[in-house]
Amino acid sequence: MSYPYQIKSFEEYQQAYKRSVQDPEGFWGDVAENFTWRKKWDKVLEWNFKEPKVEWFKGGKLNITENCIDRHLETMGEKPAIIWEPNNPEERTRTVTYNRLHKRVCQVAQMLKNNGVKKGDRVCIYMGMVPELAYAILGCARIGAIHSVIFGGFSAQSIADRLEDANAEFIITCDGAYRGEKVIPLKNVIDDALIGNKTVKKVIVYTRTRTPVSMIKGRDIWWEDEMEFAEHQVEKEGKVFFEAEAMDAEDPLFILYTSGSTGKPKGVVHSSGGYMVWTNYTFVNVFQYQQGQIHFCTADIGWITGHSYIVYGPLSAGGTSLMFEGIPTYPSCSRFFDIVDKYKVNILYTAPTAIRSLIGFGDEPYKNNDLSSLQILGTVGEPINEEAWHWYDEHIGKKKCPIVDTWWQTETGGVLISNLAGITPAKPSWATLPLPGVQPILVDEKGEAITKKDEQGLLKGNLCIKAPWPSILRTTYGDHERCRTNYFATYENLYFTSDGALKDENGFYRITGRVDDVLNVSGHRIGTAEVENAINMHAGVVESAVVGYPHDIKGQGIYAYVIIDGKHAADDEQTRKNILQTVTRVIGPIAKPDKIQFVKGLPKTRSGKIMRRILRKIAEGETQNLGDTTTLLDPNVVDEIKNGKL
Ligand code: WTA
Repeated sequence: MSYPYQIKSFEEYQQAYKRSVQDPEGFWGDVAENFTWRKKWDKVLEWNFKEPKVEWFKGGKLNITENCIDRHLETMGEKPAIIWEPNNPEERTRTVTYNRLHKRVCQVAQMLKNNGVKKGDRVCIYMGMVPELAYAILGCARIGAIHSVIFGGFSAQSIADRLEDANAEFIITCDGAYRGEKVIPLKNVIDDALIGNKTVKKVIVYTRTRTPVSMIKGRDIWWEDEMEFAEHQVEKEGKVFFEAEAMDAEDPLFILYTSGSTGKPKGVVHSSGGYMVWTNYTFVNVFQYQQGQIHFCTADIGWITGHSYIVYGPLSAGGTSLMFEGIPTYPSCSRFFDIVDKYKVNILYTAPTAIRSLIGFGDEPYKNNDLSSLQILGTVGEPINEEAWHWYDEHIGKKKCPIVDTWWQTETGGVLISNLAGITPAKPSWATLPLPGVQPILVDEKGEAITKKDEQGLLKGNLCIKAPWPSILRTTYGDHERCRTNYFATYENLYFTSDGALKDENGFYRITGRVDDVLNVSGHRIGTAEVENAINMHAGVVESAVVGYPHDIKGQGIYAYVIIDGKHAADDEQTRKNILQTVTRVIGPIAKPDKIQFVKGLPKTRSGKIMRRILRKIAEGETQNLGDTTTLLDPNVVDEIKNGKL
C-alpha cells in the first residue's frame, strides 16, 4: 500500500497546508479518493458552527472495516495487523494477520446480528486490552452498530450512567482483565452497573481470567459459544464472508464519553467517513508510517488515543499495530522497552506521565534492551516538560529518533497540532505546527484575536479552531445543544478547545493546559465538578471544592477541600479513606483525590461563588500572592485554609 498523500518535505507541508486552507474541498476530496467507497460523495464539505452542523463527504457510502481490513486482503492478507503482548510476558503472544482479523470481525458481526443487534444500535464495550476488544469494535462497525467503549478504570456507577445516556441495549465484556499483579473483575462490575438498568438485553462475556462470574439466564451469553456458532455461518467452502453494512459518511461510528467542566460526562460522537480519513491521514503523516513498520501505541483503547492510533489509523493504513495488555511497570520498569526489543518496534507512542514515571528508575528501564529498531517517538495527552522530552530523546531515541508532540482531544478525533516526524522541525515541549486543514487562532476572553506579543515575543491566548477538519465531533449523544454550548458558543464561529496556548514567531504552538475546570491526571481527563459531586455524595460531607496542583509524575494531582459536618467527625484519616472509597464507587479509582484537606469554610464571593483561583494557588503552595481577596464574604477562611495546607 502506498500513501500518495504522505508529505515528504517541509516545502510539501507548506504547499499542502496552503491548499487545504484555500481549497479544503479540493484538498480533502483528493485525499479521500485513496479509500474504498461504495458510493462517492456528492459534496465534500458543508458546515456552519452556529448550529453546529458539519458534514464531510455527504452522500458518500462506505464501511470503515472494508477500509481497515478487506482492501488489504489481496496483497497483505498474511501480514500482521495486530501483534498482541499479554500482561504476563511468559504467556504466549498472538499475531493476528489481516486474514485472521477479517475472519474474526466477520464472526463478531454475525454474532451481533444473531443476537439482534442492528445498524444504529449502541453497544457498550467494557473489556481489557485483548485482541477481542479490537474485533468487538470492528464487528460493531461492520454492521453499523455504534460502539461505546468504556475504560476499565471506571466504576459500575459510571458505566450505569453511560449505559443510560446512550440507551445501550448490548454489552460486550470479559470475565476479568489482567493489569500487572491485579485482576479486575470486569463482569462483576457490569453486573453492578446493570442493577436497575432497563435497556440492556444481552451481555456477551469473553473469557480471559477465569474469574468466577454470575451468568444470568436469557441475558448473559459466552463469547466463545456465540463465536463458534457464528464461525459456521460466515465460513463457506473455505471462504469467509459477512457483507459489511454500507454506511453514510455521516452516520455515527462511535460514542466516547469524556469529562467536561460540568458534572456529567459527554458522549462525544464521531462519524465514519471523516473520522476514517483523518485518523489515516494523521497516522501516515505525523508518524511518517512506512509499510511493514511496527507501531506501538501504549494507550488503552478505552481512550480516544487507542481508538485512533491502535485501531482505526494503523489498520486503515494496512499497518501493524502492537497492542499491549499490561502496565509499564510489570513485571519490571523495563516492560515497554522489553517489548520494543522483543518485537523490534519502530514507532513508540506514549504519554509524558509514563515517561516521567520511568525517569525515576534511572537507567534501569532501558539498560538491558536493544532499542536500535526505534525510528520515531511520540507523545500525547498532556504538555511534555523539557526534562521528560530530553530523557526520551537521549535515552530512548538515542538522539536519532524524531519526537512528535501531538496535541489533540477526544473531540478532535485525531491529531491537530504536531510536528511531522523528521519532516517539520521539533521544538521540545512545543506541539509546533497545525496539520493541513487545521486553522488555529488564539483569542482573548472576548473572542478577539490576540495580536499583541508578550515580553518574550509570544502570543498567548485561548486556543480555538476556525474551520472544521474531517474528524471534528458531530454532536454530543442525545443532546446537540450541549455540544453547541460546550464547544461553539463561547466564541462566535469558532470551535473552542478549552486549552490555553502560546504561539512563537515561527507560528509554532505550545499548549499550556486547560483553561476550564478539567484536570489532566496522568493523561486522563477528569472534571473537577464530577469529583466534587462524588465527594459530596459521602455521608457527612457538607461541601467540597476540587482543584488541580502540579504533580511530578501525574502532571496534575487532585486536591480536595472538604467541609465535614461535626456529627460525623470520626478521625480524619478514616474519613479520608471513606471519602476515597466513595469516589472510587461513584467514578472509579482514576478520580481519587491525592490530597484531602478538611476545612471549616470555603472562600466564597458575596454571591456564593467559590473562588477557585485562591484554592488553586494554595494547593500549588503559594501563600503570599493570592490576588484580590476583598470580594470574599469571609476573608478569614483563607488563613485557616493556608494554615491547614497538606
Ligand atoms: C491535553 C487526548 C499538551 C489538552 C488525545 C487537551 C495535550 C486534552 C496534548 C485532551 C499535548 C493532549 N500537549 N496538552 N501534546 N495532547 N493534551 O480528550 O489539555 O483525553 O485538551 O485527548 O489533553 O484530552 P483527551
